[in-house]
Amino acid sequence: MTKLSMDNIVEKVDELPSLPQVVVRVMELTEDPDSSAFDINEALSQDQNMTAQVLRMANSLYYGYSRRISTVTDAIVLIGFNAVRSIVLAASVSKILKKELNGYVMGEGQLWVHSQCAAVFARLLAKKTQFRSVELAYTATLLHDIGKLVMNSYVRDAYQDVIDVVNMEKLTFDEAEKRIFGFSHPVVGGKVAEKWNLPGDLVEAISCHHDPSAAESNPKLTAIVHVADAVTLQMGMGLGVDGLLYPLSKEAVDLLEISEGDLEGLMAEIVDLFIDKDVFN
Ligand SMILES: [Fe+2]
Ligand SMILES: [Fe+2]
Repeated sequence: MTKLSMDNIVEKVDELPSLPQVVVRVMELTEDPDSSAFDINEALSQDQNMTAQVLRMANSLYYGYSRRISTVTDAIVLIGFNAVRSIVLAASVSKILKKELNGYVMGEGQLWVHSQCAAVFARLLAKKTQFRSVELAYTATLLHDIGKLVMNSYVRDAYQDVIDVVNMEKLTFDEAEKRIFGFSHPVVGGKVAEKWNLPGDLVEAISCHHDPSAAESNPKLTAIVHVADAVTLQMGMGLGVDGLLYPLSKEAVDLLEISEGDLEGLMAEIVDLFIDKDVFN
């Protein structure tokens, strides 16, 4: 297997769909202090499927609210601009995250379950650790493994080599990817996030999710993504061939100042949340 070049990666990243225009518009509107719930409703109403999916996700992720969320305006009032923005982004990437990834031995829908579960965990963890942007933590975690979509065919074609390197050199799976291809799924995922013009902190958190001590600009965000990913894997949510091959970084846990007991408490909370299978639709 010859190493890949940056051109190979960029070409592959370009094959991924770009973010739909409606998502870009909603992201702009939620950042503009002058925009209202009405404006966002307007923008979303251009895409009925997206609206329906946003409402379904808002209800299943926030079913603790006593009233049912039946319109976009309701959703904005009840869960806020930023939460609506994350749901719009989640709805728009759900289709590609649901794809089968045979290189990683993940069936259809498995990466989506893993990503969604980790992202919801990250939101709880962000709240618990008083991280300033709960929704940024959600979005970064939702997208953390997006590079797997790009790396999938390479890993599939060199599957045995990757496994051999993992076993013989005792490397983690992402290190083996790097050894064989010159690139690993976190770094490639960062390239996807860059292409989508997502914020720099988010790009860093995706690129460093298996090596959180490498984060410089927002180490806390990266630590949240890392811990949420590791805990989700421990819970067996969306395990592929590599699922059990990533250690939990003690540095990340220390940086967040959370205890084992805190993590267990959050795990119990998330199990309750996922009883509602609608979350994964
Ligand atoms: Fe990963
Ligand atoms: Fe992951």
